[in-house]
Amino acid sequence: CSAQTKIILDPDLTNTRISKHIYGHFAEHLGRSIYGGVYVGENNTLIPHTAGIRNDIVAALKELKVPNLRWPGGCFADAYQWKDGIGSKKDRPSMINAWWGGTKEDNSFGTHDFLDLCERIGAEPYLAGNVGSGTVKDLSDWVSYVNHPGGSPMAVLRQQNGREKPWNVKMWGVGNEAWGCGGNMTAEYYANIYRQYATFMNDWSKDAKLFRVASGANDGDYHWTETLMKNIPLTMLSGVALHHYSVLDWKDKGPSVAFSEAQYFKTMQEAWKMEEFVTRHSTIMDKYDPDKKVALLVDEWGGWYNVEEGTNPGFLYQQNTMRDAMIAGLTLNIFNNHADRVRGANLAQMVNVLQAVILTKDEKMLLTPTYHVMKMYNVHQDAMLVPVQIQAPDYQFGEEKLPAVSASCSRDSSGKLNISLTNIDYSRSNEVTIQLRGEAYSRVSGQILSSAKMSDHNTFEQPNKIAVADFSNARLEKQVLKLTIPAHSVIVLKVEK
Ligand code: AHR
Repeated sequence: CSAQTKIILDPDLTNTRISKHIYGHFAEHLGRSIYGGVYVGENNTLIPHTAGIRNDIVAALKELKVPNLRWPGGCFADAYQWKDGIGSKKDRPSMINAWWGGTKEDNSFGTHDFLDLCERIGAEPYLAGNVGSGTVKDLSDWVSYVNHPGGSPMAVLRQQNGREKPWNVKMWGVGNEAWGCGGNMTAEYYANIYRQYATFMNDWSKDAKLFRVASGANDGDYHWTETLMKNIPLTMLSGVALHHYSVLDWKDKGPSVAFSEAQYFKTMQEAWKMEEFVTRHSTIMDKYDPDKKVALLVDEWGGWYNVEEGTNPGFLYQQNTMRDAMIAGLTLNIFNNHADRVRGANLAQMVNVLQAVILTKDEKMLLTPTYHVMKMYNVHQDAMLVPVQIQAPDYQFGEEKLPAVSASCSRDSSGKLNISLTNIDYSRSNEVTIQLRGEAYSRVSGQILSSAKMSDHNTFEQPNKIAVADFSNARLEKQVLKLTIPAHSVIVLKVEK
């Protein structure tokens, strides 16, 4: 049976741009994210690559329009010695990746390789600096190595390593999860450390004015955000991070495919918490920064389950089903609707780790349902947010309930509206009525991501089981749009004048 959702849109009332950086990605030295994922080595003869970076992954990421890519961690960032990852590959020292599986890290994928990848996919690099175990000088040198125009010892070293011009990397994280794997610091201690490290991260030219991001809170740790906002001068702070994963229970995160409806409902409850977290962290930021100069960046988010059977527990490899498409659609709607303060986010993670958009197995590659949602939604990148009023019915499970349908809307530079809708209801479709106020629109088209079962997913044998299809069942009459969104589906509508 079907439920009813009512939406009112005010396309004339736009005053906030949705930063494209909300659609960012994250690639850590973890499991098969880099090695055996993005990077297969320069001498690989089985998988087509350019300087070791897989060509098929580059093509898929270009299509996705990745605005920024965060690297090298995560927890790994605070153990990473960037100087070990430059120069001749055969002379690079190794280390043990103590956070993730205890594997040997041979540093064959380093700063040049990463920045080359970013150039090839057209993404802005977002480098996470080592604050937990690196010195102030190490981080200061890294900034100089990648951004100094020439003449500094670090710029000379970069040029000796084959890169003449600076990369002018703007986005820098000052540590990661400083409250945990980044050093187990208190908020008060980290606020001071941030000030110290940030001071020596220089803006080396007008083209490389740094966007410095403080390691942020975990979930609802509002004391953390309050302490940073109170103790760091706003002139030193471009962004504050926030991490939230949709996890059932950290001790047993449940299966990524064979989950029950109860487990699904709990995942959705966790995903919906993002609304509360960004609202409350933003409210604290408003107190210290009413002009909203400092951005909130949710630079880690996504679903986290038990690893696939038979895989290394430290590699965080999991399958990706329609449940993940629901997390993505719902979360991106939340970010869009909070675009005044949320101006960056990074899905964890890009390839073969957690809620990945791409999975690989030797020479095979597949695009997950999450990839398709991220791609359908990329029409919102840098478009103007249209305020949405929504009355959505409940998705009820036992005594508990959640809003079934979420929506966001933007107007692009040519005046087209893009409306994204996600129906997380496990089994009920929803009849949606959208009233368009203001100027008249005459045409509607759309795309849908849907599948018979919530646990459906793409496999290497059947990589296109879940794929985007055209959606032509929306009717537009007298400024009112009507459509039915099936259970556990994502729809993006394009409405033109
Ligand atoms: O994304 C996996 C890990 O989750 C990251 O390394 C860390 O920052 C977070 O705890």
